[in-house]
Amino acid sequence: MHERKILFETRYQLRDLDRGYANRALRVDVSARTVTEVPVDDRMKQLWTGGKGFDLWLTFREINKNTKWDSPENPICFSAGPLGGTTSFPGAGKTIVTAVSPMTQSMMDCNVGGYFGPFLKFAGFDAMMLTGISDTECIIVIDSVEGLVRVYDATDDAVDSHILAEELTGQFARNEIEKRNIAVVSAGTAANFVRMGMLNFSFYDWRRGVCRFKQAARGGIGTVFRHKKIKALVLRSRSMTPAWRVEENLVAARITPKKLTRMECPTVREELDRIIDRWHADPEYVIEMMQDIQERFRHIPKVALDQIQHRTRTPLAHLYHIATFYKSFSLEPRGETIVQVCMGTACHVKGAANILDSFERVLGIPTGGTTADGKYSLEAVACLGACSIAPVVRIGEEIMGNVESRQVEKLLKQYAAPGAAAPAGCAGEEVDHD
Ligand code: FES
Repeated sequence: MHERKILFETRYQLRDLDRGYANRALRVDVSARTVTEVPVDDRMKQLWTGGKGFDLWLTFREINKNTKWDSPENPICFSAGPLGGTTSFPGAGKTIVTAVSPMTQSMMDCNVGGYFGPFLKFAGFDAMMLTGISDTECIIVIDSVEGLVRVYDATDDAVDSHILAEELTGQFARNEIEKRNIAVVSAGTAANFVRMGMLNFSFYDWRRGVCRFKQAARGGIGTVFRHKKIKALVLRSRSMTPAWRVEENLVAARITPKKLTRMECPTVREELDRIIDRWHADPEYVIEMMQDIQERFRHIPKVALDQIQHRTRTPLAHLYHIATFYKSFSLEPRGETIVQVCMGTACHVKGAANILDSFERVLGIPTGGTTADGKYSLEAVACLGACSIAPVVRIGEEIMGNVESRQVEKLLKQYAAPGAAAPAGCAGEEVDHD
């Protein structure tokens, strides 16, 4: 990382969470050049529960009846709520951002994705406030690896979010894997000139190798950010397992004693270990591990994701992201034979919907389902690359073309008894993909 001029800094004590709370918020005043901790007490937790509540309470502490959007005391607050950073609930990755708005001169809140809120929680803070107006352009860095809040001079840095976030992610990550632990909040040049400037929250997309962005776009909070002469707020997160998960809550475990499922038995765990060892438990190869597991167990059981996370230290959220993004992975057991009905354009115009209907009827399952005996799973897929013989169906490894819905039952029988003759009009042979 190139040498940067440090304006001010403060070390802080890293702290584990207690029932979803860090019990403190961070306050950075760029006018006074101070970094302080604000206690989060039980009263605050009970009366102002959640990200929006915390932000409002912290704002009321700072402002007075004369506070305008451009007043130094107008704080930008960020908060993640008590479930922030868990992987057990939808929406637990969000950050709530508030400030007095340049557009309405009243409180405005935004709800934004990306990793900032969870990372703030992992850094040991339930919320944070940015207040004051800096006398020089600055970048604020919260480093939860070092336990350090440091504010740098940013006179020479870019303003535009897509450039700045890439640069800062590269500068504050020590290697490619660590880029996933960097979140950058920035506002862009437009926020210098308009009242509706928004905040961009970066997250590193490791598949594409670039930063991507989520926006806190309501009310012009990006304009407030730039008015404070802040170019970026960077969070460097420690790699850690999720802070708290429902199944690990001792109270829940006591109420519902846990029975071992078939997939949790020791022999399955040993087999999973062998697959992970085959890839040297290297986090770069989690997709390959998951492919092997999918092939062996016909799905990715939850216990496998836990084991990969434990052995490779890859965040569980990433593993779920992979498992749910790629069609070839399934979190539910798939049937011995996968039936795929092509719904691509060529097949669609030649009646693919009717064929899918027939398979649903004959197999007695909806699309995406698996028969009770575990023999067949039914999927609707995009182009199978054999459009010239549309409509196309793949049963197991076999591709069949010119299929008619009345042939569906025969096709299944033919697949089950490979010697049987193909129904009239059905290609039934292997096809070279385009
Ligand atoms: S659209 Fe069905 S095979 Fe191409």
